Amino acid sequence: MALLDVKDLNVRFETPEGEIHAVNGVSFALEKGEALGIVGESGSGKSQLSFSILGLLAANGKASGSVEFEGREILNLSERELNKIRADRIAMVFQDPMTALNPYMRISDQMAEVLMLHKGLSKRDAVAEAAHMLDLVKIPDAKNRVRLFPHEFSGGMRQRVMIAMALLCKPDVLIADEPTTALDVTVQAQIMDLLGELRRELGMATVLITHDLGVVAGFCERAIVMYGGQVMEQSPVDPLFANPTHPYTRGLLGALPRLDAGNAMTPIRGNPPNMTGAPKGCPFCPRCDFAEEICAQDMPALTQFSEGRARACHRSIETIEEAAA
Ligand SMILES: Nc1ncnc2c1ncn2[C@@H]1O[C@H](COP(=O)(O)OP(=O)(O)OP(=O)(O)O)[C@@H](O)[C@H]1O
Ligand code: SF4
Ligand SMILES: [Mg+2]
Repeated sequence: MALLDVKDLNVRFETPEGEIHAVNGVSFALEKGEALGIVGESGSGKSQLSFSILGLLAANGKASGSVEFEGREILNLSERELNKIRADRIAMVFQDPMTALNPYMRISDQMAEVLMLHKGLSKRDAVAEAAHMLDLVKIPDAKNRVRLFPHEFSGGMRQRVMIAMALLCKPDVLIADEPTTALDVTVQAQIMDLLGELRRELGMATVLITHDLGVVAGFCERAIVMYGGQVMEQSPVDPLFANPTHPYTRGLLGALPRLDAGNAMTPIRGNPPNMTGAPKGCPFCPRCDFAEEICAQDMPALTQFSEGRARACHRSIETIEEAAA
């Protein structure tokens, strides 16, 4: 049994302009201790997918399908039930730390509150544990700085505080949604190294959400490539990079800066899809160099073609490889 088993997950939003289909039929399993990357351009549904797992969708959003955690259905549980799972079993790191941190509370109080609620610690022990966590994420002088307010930390340090907050209860699953995009490149690398270290130390399964394939390559064992709310390709990371089989993945890789190409990026032509209304055909069709008539009509099924690898495309792997040769 997988630790987290997501099956046919759909997320829709009601808006005055119509129904937005943000996530369409996404399935994946996360094993204990595994690092899975979810990658795709802006608007591909990555964040809403993770929000729906923890019941954090906006009021106009609705999730359907199934999410099993340790064999138990957790999709659309009550707030009360979800609060037992959040932080304690499945924790989340957000792109913007200020969405998760209360600006008016000292870090010590915010962290202690979580530990008192979930672990039944006394205030004194909880603050000591909070300082220990800040130390673990390499915040200098953690013992004193735990008393500061969020705005008294720099951006990079605040991101560390949020990671410490997410790891407080030693969750089984960490969902990290673009944990470093707001930071400069050097700090990004430090934070990813830190997350990797902590993951190994705590044996924590991690879902890393990013638009950056480079980050996935360095951190994850397996990746899911999403476009238009659907899974395009799913694969262990090494063969995905060595031999991408999907036109969209190839496009993303082409858009990755390469040292041997003088850092040039070739962006994918065209714009991300409009998600209003039920999806018809392959969402990548208007931007795809391989598109055929059928692509605009039918969404290809995600089909396994080798151990652990699956793709959703009407064109054969050979056709795509020949074009690259
Ligand atoms: N409350 C909402 N009402 C209507 N549409 C929404 C709402 N929240 C998100 N969406 C839409 O859902 C789609 C998927 O958004 P999502 O935030 O999951 O993208 P993403 O892949 O995380 O992008 P990014 O890389 O920019 O974070 C987008 O088209 C977005 O506009
Ligand atoms: S199904 Fe068609 S449009 Fe979609 S990626 Fe494959 S070839 Fe391109
Ligand atoms: Mg997002």
